[in-house]
Amino acid sequence: MIYFDNAATSWPKPPGVTEAMVRFMEEVGANPGRSGHRLSVEAGRIVYEAREAVAELFNVEDPLRIVFGYNVTEGLNLALRGILQPGDHVITSSMEHNSVMRPLRALEREGVELTVVACSAEGFLDPAHVEAAIRPNTVMVVLNHGSNVVGSLLPVAEVGRICRQHDLLLLMDTAQTAGAYPIDVEADHIDLLGFTGHKALCGPMGTGGLYIGPRVDLERFEPLKRGGTGSRSELEEQPDFLPDMCESGTLNAVGLAGLGAGVRFVLEQRVEKIRRHEEELMAQLIEGLKAIPSTGLRRAQSSRSGRRSGVTVYGGHDATRQTATVSFNVAGLEPSEVGLQLDEEYGILCRVGLHCAPLAHKTIGTFPTGTVRFGLSYFNSGEEVEVALRAVREIVNGG
Ligand SMILES: Cc1ncc(COP(=O)(O)O)c(C=O)c1O
Repeated sequence: MIYFDNAATSWPKPPGVTEAMVRFMEEVGANPGRSGHRLSVEAGRIVYEAREAVAELFNVEDPLRIVFGYNVTEGLNLALRGILQPGDHVITSSMEHNSVMRPLRALEREGVELTVVACSAEGFLDPAHVEAAIRPNTVMVVLNHGSNVVGSLLPVAEVGRICRQHDLLLLMDTAQTAGAYPIDVEADHIDLLGFTGHKALCGPMGTGGLYIGPRVDLERFEPLKRGGTGSRSELEEQPDFLPDMCESGTLNAVGLAGLGAGVRFVLEQRVEKIRRHEEELMAQLIEGLKAIPSTGLRRAQSSRSGRRSGVTVYGGHDATRQTATVSFNVAGLEPSEVGLQLDEEYGILCRVGLHCAPLAHKTIGTFPTGTVRFGLSYFNSGEEVEVALRAVREIVNGG
């Protein structure tokens, strides 16, 4: 079996992740930050170490600015709902995942003004188009750092500079890049950063959150939920400090034990090394897919249907400008048919369809059927890429 669905959830996890979770369940188990006895203190320590690891990865000075939640969707909703008010203007791109687009469309109905800046058909964003969209009431720019459809990297540092010049907040969705591509909140001028634990951060599902930077006015920030935090229990009002202000209710401490181990693995390996490996695999995959000649049955079918023959590879065709995710289609076949053949006949697991990002597919011209997506990780090899290329070649040639 070859697992090429890492853009959805990474698997396998590195050594230490499962062990940290099992240890938590067998030896710790108590509620972090609540009770003050030794097991509660130990649980609190494990959660704090996960906070420290995430902070180190993103070059965040104060780990208490890392708010944990269940995934990046929660982190993004927290940032958008926490800041945007009716009458505010927000700018985003046409490569966003629905975890950004759906909250923004809902906020639009409540009176927030929204501009969606069009990206190129390869999935890239021109920072000048963001600057041109700024209005007097613009408050925030929110961007997907790496596209989950074609892997294109959006220009975070350039947009960050523009945001600082115009005194705007920059919120990044790092679902596809955290742990796989270098991120530095200081150098990139990121004010808010949503992250999810179960992809390249190598943690389990049910972990993620939001970094809230010092340019965010906490006095005006609205938490998504209010409740018990284990701190300031004499108050009937929500604490006004991070992370407690945004972390009501018991945390997924067992998951955070795993996330801490996953992020420590990334830190030990170094993101630059992970990135180098993934870039090499991507270059091999893109070149291999582009080189597949179209012969036989599929060519006959596709020329009858008027579609391009062979394989169409989307995105910029440049491994240095994208994550380890690539989308393609085989002429004459639905993405779902290709995905089924890859799974059933070749044991290659990938994702097909719209990948929760309909606007991104409209941008690259693959709406509504979508694409076949290969999402690679640090744990994939060049041999696996070769096997997958052979499989796609056979499918193109009629199986
Ligand atoms: C770019 C992007 N944003 C957001 C998400 C949502 O992630 P989660 O389901 O972990 O909240 C994903 C997941 O695929 C994604 O790829």
